[in-house]
Amino acid sequence: MNNERLAKLGHLMEKFGLEGMALNPGPTLIYLTGLHFHLMERPTVLLVSHTGSSAMVLPVLEKGKLPPESETFKAFPFGDDPATWSAVFEQAGDWINLQSGQIGVDPTRLRFLELSFLESALPGVRFVDASQALAALRMQKEPEEISRMKKAAQIAQTGLLEMLKTLGRGMTEKQIANELIVQLLKAGSDSEMPFAPIVALGENSANPHAVPTDRELRSGDLLLVDWGAAFDGYFSDITRTFTFGEVDPELIEIGNIVLQANQAAQNVGKPGITAGAIDRAARAVIDGAGYGAAFTHRTGHGLGMEAHEPPYIYSENGLILAPGMTFTIEPGIYLPGRGGVRIEDDVVITETGLESLTDMPRRVMPIEGFIA
Ligand code: CO
Ligand code: CO
Repeated sequence: MNNERLAKLGHLMEKFGLEGMALNPGPTLIYLTGLHFHLMERPTVLLVSHTGSSAMVLPVLEKGKLPPESETFKAFPFGDDPATWSAVFEQAGDWINLQSGQIGVDPTRLRFLELSFLESALPGVRFVDASQALAALRMQKEPEEISRMKKAAQIAQTGLLEMLKTLGRGMTEKQIANELIVQLLKAGSDSEMPFAPIVALGENSANPHAVPTDRELRSGDLLLVDWGAAFDGYFSDITRTFTFGEVDPELIEIGNIVLQANQAAQNVGKPGITAGAIDRAARAVIDGAGYGAAFTHRTGHGLGMEAHEPPYIYSENGLILAPGMTFTIEPGIYLPGRGGVRIEDDVVITETGLESLTDMPRRVMPIEGFIA
């Protein structure tokens, strides 16, 4: 249990009017307890009370992972027979003694499975969306979290450079993506990566969420790679775009515009401005060049223990940026049927400005220079 972080959660519960929190396996549980559980068919739930006590309901075989029980922490293990689980949840509910008020949950994590058990064990309380409290809990990273993210960025960059050495005409998107995964693991990524790499060739690069296919690398192609690595549970998420052979000059031109948009967004980043201001800085460059309609997504998203988490970088977001907030800056221009360019960096708000955790060259470059 991380007592400092639990205390922070306590303050947030007070601020948001929550009597307790119910957390199931996922980043927030790891953040608070250091405990890794897989989300599976059996319910594992940590109940935290505003009084500081917590109860953990979990399969008995997982009990060995827990810290020793104390006055403020008790485990409620259950066996293999699902018919007995309700009673165990009820015991946990009685012990934690939350009889009324609101209990916060993470709406993107807690499932009907856990909610059903919780609702019967704690009939007097109301379960509510605690997204805001959870965002406030994890959004401003501690220095040790930022150094893990830096390491995740370095691993990703090393893996990419190694993969580029192996490229050649005729390789498919799938082959390139698979080679990248191998190189990321060799470079030291955790095996649980943030997401499967996107490798998009030629016209496929115009699809921001392309899935690798058997499309082969041909002269005249753009090669867009959106990939990330994980280090100690913290993620990177980067995009770079390359050319192979002689490429349509308009695609080179949109590459220059996207680079300027990325730089404009990085330049305005500092504490005290809104998340929306970052998006607007990138969008102004692309709008000004006449490609506004081809920039079809928000400028970025928060990054950390999750590949997408708050703060989200969209024009209307009034959230005030503060030191320690980490997010991506990833403007793009997509020309359907022809190709697209995205340039994505991972950044952190510092005391005075913004620092990029990713530092490999951003401009659209010919891959010929990288092939071994
Ligand atoms: Co990405
Ligand atoms: Co991203």
